[in-house]
Amino acid sequence: MISKRMNEALNEQIKIEGQSSMVYLAMASWAEIQPGIDNVVSFFYRHSDEEREHMLKLIHFVNERGGFAMIPAFEQPTLTYPSINHAFKELLEHEMMVSKSINNLVDISLQEKDYATHNFLQWYVAEQIEEEALARTLNDKLELIGDDKGGLYLFDKDILTVSVGTEE
Ligand code: FEO
Repeated sequence: MISKRMNEALNEQIKIEGQSSMVYLAMASWAEIQPGIDNVVSFFYRHSDEEREHMLKLIHFVNERGGFAMIPAFEQPTLTYPSINHAFKELLEHEMMVSKSINNLVDISLQEKDYATHNFLQWYVAEQIEEEALARTLNDKLELIGDDKGGLYLFDKDILTVSVGTEE
């Protein structure tokens, strides 16, 4: 059985993962009306799906441990971006925020001596390392490309091979 404090902290994370899914869904929809970046569009849609999976995993864990996963209201995500570079920059910043939040949860699990939750969270710790590294790589590439249209074409081809999340 998880403590009230742990339950509340996990519910906060459920909101963050769900919100991440909305943020990337909005990026996908915006990217879909830009010309010539079909693979970037799929990347954002896949990323949004991944975040929903992260949220679901938390929901099941909380409920299976005798807590109650409360489904929150989500905030309106940013709808448009000045450029692809801006969208990917926001993606990186967003993932850095999520990593902080996961680390905070790990801290709480130790304070609560909740070793089952601590163990469960290790998957998220590993996932965040992957996601942040990927977001950084993509941002570095975009920085090199700058305003070069040919570079963006290659970036779109390249992103097809990228896997968004770690396998379970
Ligand atoms: Fe589930 Fe990208 O954090």
